[in-house]
Amino acid sequence: MNRAIIYPGSFDPVTYGHIDIIKRAAKNYDTVYVSVLDNNKKSPLFTVEERVKMLKDVTKDYDNVVIETFRGLLIDYAREKDVHVVLRGLRALTDFEYELHMAQTNYLISGGWLETVFLSTDLEYSYLSSTTVREIASFHGDVSKFVPECVAESLYKKFGY
Ligand code: PNS
Repeated sequence: MNRAIIYPGSFDPVTYGHIDIIKRAAKNYDTVYVSVLDNNKKSPLFTVEERVKMLKDVTKDYDNVVIETFRGLLIDYAREKDVHVVLRGLRALTDFEYELHMAQTNYLISGGWLETVFLSTDLEYSYLSSTTVREIASFHGDVSKFVPECVAESLYKKFGY
């Protein structure tokens, strides 16, 4: 059995909340593919290359974590890799509707072979999102509690402080 899982997302940028999910998945699966969506329409703050580099930096101690990118539909990417399970983090009830919709859509359009599993985010990070981090950094606030140092430095550089 292929004990691999795909953790897809924008990771713009990666936060301690994402890292918590990655570490916990790495304990339970042979391989964790952290897969960055390469989608021009989303106009992200960081380029896909910058996001991949930050993810590689912060997961360098985990041998079974692989950072990749994908375009188009998640089910096509998952099929190509022959991985049948997707992982998403759930922070609060506000995430639930969107996540449920995505999980059910992927299950439906894959003809029932792509499952989604959820990990509940550690309470410490339940409020944390990349959007909040970008907003704080855009006003030159301190993001050191939310992201590792290398990510904070990239944010400070982006916003010129
Ligand atoms: O970190 P995000 O932005 O919440 O991640 C969302 C992501 C990348 C997982 C989702 O947008 C996605 O899988 N996009 C690929 C397109 C796709 O497969 N859409 C159909 C499922 S709704």
